[in-house]
Amino acid sequence: MNTLKPAKILTIVGARPQFIKAAMVSRALAAFRPTAGQRRFEEAIVHTGQHYDPAMSDVFFEEMDIPRPVVNLHVGSGGHSVTTGAMLEGIERELLSRKPDWVLVYGDTNSTLAGALAAAKLQIPIAHVEAGLRSFNRRMPEETNRVLVDRLSTLLFCPSENARANLAREGIVNGVHVVGDVMYDAVLHYRAKAIAPALDEPYILCTLHRAELTDDPVRLRGLIKMLDEAPHKVLMPLHPRTRKLADRENIVPGTNVCWLEPASYFAMLGYIEHAAFVVTDSGGVQKEAYYLGKRCVTARDETEWTELVACDANRVVGSDPAALRAAFDWAAQPLAENRDVYGKGDASERIAGILADM
Ligand code: UD1
Repeated sequence: MNTLKPAKILTIVGARPQFIKAAMVSRALAAFRPTAGQRRFEEAIVHTGQHYDPAMSDVFFEEMDIPRPVVNLHVGSGGHSVTTGAMLEGIERELLSRKPDWVLVYGDTNSTLAGALAAAKLQIPIAHVEAGLRSFNRRMPEETNRVLVDRLSTLLFCPSENARANLAREGIVNGVHVVGDVMYDAVLHYRAKAIAPALDEPYILCTLHRAELTDDPVRLRGLIKMLDEAPHKVLMPLHPRTRKLADRENIVPGTNVCWLEPASYFAMLGYIEHAAFVVTDSGGVQKEAYYLGKRCVTARDETEWTELVACDANRVVGSDPAALRAAFDWAAQPLAENRDVYGKGDASERIAGILADM
């Protein structure tokens, strides 16, 4: 019998994409069967409360059957420093009382940074899922978060060899493992539950929420106007941040663009699976489009997911409406069959296995 004490993992999540990633890794940690010399896991999830609307948070826990967080810090919305500071304080309290062996963080949000920084100060080792991504654009808050969290992490789980190379260029070579993308695991696991939208005509699925766009009414207005001239109807589940800017600036979609409430994970899988193609500034949606066999037009100046551009699944058009229009014909063409640029869909199990060997 294995008598080793379980490894205590404290997982920090707070924003929508982190719930999706944590769903798969939490499942793999719970299902892990240790062999001789390995420990089993005891995981507790801390929710920072960065995303708090039920449609931005609760629905993911319910659909994806994610273990209930042991605490929600309810930091809510505000400036970067105010919210990150509030997270630091709350996370430190949890770390001191729960004394985990590892802190597990995901992606590049302010919740990721707060989790890593609080852990580093208490000398608790950090495991970072989705390490090594770079946009090389320091105007993005996410880029600052990525660079700092990778610097502080003991285990760095990369989705690709490019991510590993990015880390190597910054001198980070120890503890780096290319495991693939946990979001691919999620698509494979939940695809059968996708909810098809009730619409009989072809449509384009679009999401826009990045600060670089939603803090700039001129850019957002230009893109929405161009979407009105797209070859098909455009379905747009709206992030509250985008909705707020549109309301404030009186940006109203034309008749071709249909604004919707934020979508659940299963609804999103359905929207993408049945779309003609995808337009987005989200990182996760770029990959989900690829996994579900759709081309993606990325409304940003660069992407971290460069492998998708290399295999002609993704085209980066910035926020120039003419470039967006020029990509429509390309986007409507079917995508080549292979789906293997970010691993085999076993990233979560590999992460559990590596943690168990530590
Ligand atoms: C955050 C991440 C971004 C990620 C995105 C996924 C950072 C710096 N950015 O951006 O990388 O792609 O999550 O969605 O962490 N709001 C609500 N209700 C909510 C959540 C947000 O109304 O439940 C509104 C608030 O006005 C808030 C704004 O959206 O101020 C922005 O929210 P915030 O969490 O700061 O950043 P996101 O844009 O969601």
